[in-house]
Amino acid sequence: MPSMDEYWEMRNGLVIPNRSVLAAMTNKQSHANGTLSHEEVRFLQRRAEGGFGLITTAASHVQESGQGWVGEFGVWGDHHLPGLTLLATQLKQHASKSFVQIFHGGMRAPSSITGQQASSASVNFISESEGSSRSLSTSEVEETISCFIKAAQRCEAAGFDGVELHGAHGYLIAQFLGSNTNRRGDAFGGDVEQRCTFLLRIIRGIREVVNDEFAIMVRLSPVSDEIGITMDDTKQVIELLIKEKIDALHISCWDVFEKQENNQTITKELCSIYSKSIPIVSTGSVWSAEDAQFVLDQGAQAVGVARVALPHPDWASLVKDLTYNPKAAPFTPQELLSADLSPTFVDYMRRWRGFVTDGR
Ligand SMILES: Cc1cc2nc3c(=O)[nH]c(=O)nc-3n(C[C@H](O)[C@H](O)[C@H](O)COP(=O)(O)O)c2cc1C
Repeated sequence: MPSMDEYWEMRNGLVIPNRSVLAAMTNKQSHANGTLSHEEVRFLQRRAEGGFGLITTAASHVQESGQGWVGEFGVWGDHHLPGLTLLATQLKQHASKSFVQIFHGGMRAPSSITGQQASSASVNFISESEGSSRSLSTSEVEETISCFIKAAQRCEAAGFDGVELHGAHGYLIAQFLGSNTNRRGDAFGGDVEQRCTFLLRIIRGIREVVNDEFAIMVRLSPVSDEIGITMDDTKQVIELLIKEKIDALHISCWDVFEKQENNQTITKELCSIYSKSIPIVSTGSVWSAEDAQFVLDQGAQAVGVARVALPHPDWASLVKDLTYNPKAAPFTPQELLSADLSPTFVDYMRRWRGFVTDGR
C-alpha cells in the first residue's frame, strides 16, 4: 500500500508530490467584485508551505449568477486574472500543484447575493424565503457551459495546473446530475447518461481549448437523496467520465469511515472498481495519520482534508509520521488567526458546530 509521502500521477501525467490534497474550502475572504484578497491568497500559500501535494481553492463561480457566498472569489471575468495569476505564482514557489475549483451555485446561488432569481436544471423548491428556482433555457445552458470553459482557460492562463469541476454538494452540476432536480425534456435531461450531458459538454469544451498538461478533476457526491443520485447512477457517471478521459476523480464522502448497507465504505467500493482506470481522491473526516492511511488502504490514490488543515497548516508534512494525531476541535480564535485565517474566516468557522471555542 502506498504511504502519504509517495508521489502519484494523474491520467495526463501531472505528478503530485505526495498524497495530501487540500480540499476546497469556501472562506468568504475575497472582494465583492470577485477579485482575490491578500487574505485568501495567504491562507492557501500557507498550506502550500505546509507541504500539501495538491491545493484546491475554494469554489469559484464561473458566472455572476452562480455566486453562492458573500466574499467568494470569481473566475467569470478577465479582471480576475491578475489575482489568479498572483495566487498561482505564489503557490508555484512550493512543490504543491494547484487547482481552482470552478462551479455555479444554481438553485443555491441566493438572490440576495446575485440580485436575480436562482436558476437550475428545473424549477426546484429552494426555501420559504427564497421560493423556487427557474429552469434554465437550452440556450442559457449553452451559455453556462461556455462560461465554465472560459473560466478554465483563465485558470490555465493564470498558471494553475488544472481545475476541479465541482459536481458535488448539490450545486448546479449536481443539480443536472440528480433525478429529483433535473426533470428536463431537452438534451440535458432524461436518464443518467443524459443528465450527465451538461458535465460532459463542459469537460469536452475545456479539453478543446487547454493543453494536455492542464488537468481536469471532477468532484462528485456519490450518493445524494436530496438531489436524487444513487450509487448506481454514480457508477454510470464515473464510467462516462473515464471515457471522457478526465485526469482524476474526487469523491466527497463527508465520513470516509461510514459503511454502507453492503458493509463496505464508499471509497472501497468505488476504488475497487475504478481506481485502476482513474486516480481517486477521497475526502471526509480524516484527522490523524492513521485515518489518512486508512483511506489509502481502501484503495484511494490520495486523501483530501479540509477542517484539519485550518488549525494545522503543516498537516501534510507532519502526516508522514504514522503516529501524528493533531489536537482536535474546538480551537480558540487566536489559534486559527495564527494559522493564517483572517478574522472573517474565523467568524465563518464559528458557524461550524464545535469548531471555534466561542462559536456554535
Ligand atoms: C469551511 C468549509 C468550506 C467548504 N467549502 C467547500 C467548497 O467550496 N467546495 C467544496 O467542494 N467543498 C467544500 N467544503 C467541504 C470540504 O471540501 C470537505 O469535503 C469536508 O469539509 C469534509 O472534509 P473534512 O472532514 O476534512 O473537513 C467546505 C468545508 C468547510 C469546512
